[in-house]
Amino acid sequence: MQLIDGKKISAEIKEEIAQEVARIKQGGGKIPHLAAILVGHDGGSETYVANKVKSCEEVGFKSTLIRYEDNVTEKELLAKVNELNNNTDIDGFIVQLPLPKHIDENKIIEAINPEKDVDGFHPVNVGRMSIGLPSFVSATPAGIVELLKRYNIETSGKHCVVIGRSNIVGRPVSILLSQKSKHGDATVTVCHSRTKNLKEICLQADIIIAAIGIPEFVKADMVKEGAIVIDVGTTRVKSDLTKSGYKLKGDVDFENVAPKCSYITPVPGGVGLMTIVSLLLNTLKAAKKEVF
Ligand code: GUN
Repeated sequence: MQLIDGKKISAEIKEEIAQEVARIKQGGGKIPHLAAILVGHDGGSETYVANKVKSCEEVGFKSTLIRYEDNVTEKELLAKVNELNNNTDIDGFIVQLPLPKHIDENKIIEAINPEKDVDGFHPVNVGRMSIGLPSFVSATPAGIVELLKRYNIETSGKHCVVIGRSNIVGRPVSILLSQKSKHGDATVTVCHSRTKNLKEICLQADIIIAAIGIPEFVKADMVKEGAIVIDVGTTRVKSDLTKSGYKLKGDVDFENVAPKCSYITPVPGGVGLMTIVSLLLNTLKAAKKEVF
């Protein structure tokens, strides 16, 4: 069994980005600038956004954090999105999800200029990605494909089972892996809460992508010998062992599943770190106008 080390790969990619930023600086070019809108005080969102801002600093990007309380109106948020769309210093921005219930997330996402949509959530980017056109690909699916690529894991002709059909992870990663491309060409099955015979389907998988958001959902008896398991789960559970009082739990029963795998990602230290570097890569592409 080989551990897929997201910490090592993400550090390598950050170093590559930092070198590119240094080159841009030297040439008198514009430093990439990412903005993030954070609404409310959800513990998970606070941590993710803080890590995104910190990562920007590490690679030499500019970053701007815009905060609102839970009671912000949809109109106020739309006005801010519009302002960021028109701010030429900002290359890309994200609106951290989830948003409070009184705000229509789709309306906010659709208001973002697709050219600055470094989360790849806008329907224009999702549509372009789906038909293989240049686009901003959402960060977690892009991070998963990058990990497979950097570990030389062949996907062509493999049966890949994706557990979860979210717009952010399950759906886009299933599209990327089935696409006619060097790091796609897989036969993909998307499973979800209504799937029958989930265990039997998983047992046929060469690659399992667990993105269902239920801690330790994937058990050893669902995984065939030699399979590759990618764990996207990041459920925060209370813990006495950490300073924050929380720890992250994956969607895979790691202890019992790992011995059966040829490769597996740990949680933390796997896909999560790749999500942030994918966002940085998208921001770099936005600054260099490489997509649109
Ligand atoms: N919430 C959970 N994951 C993400 C993400 O990748 N981007 C944003 N904007 N919100 C999220």
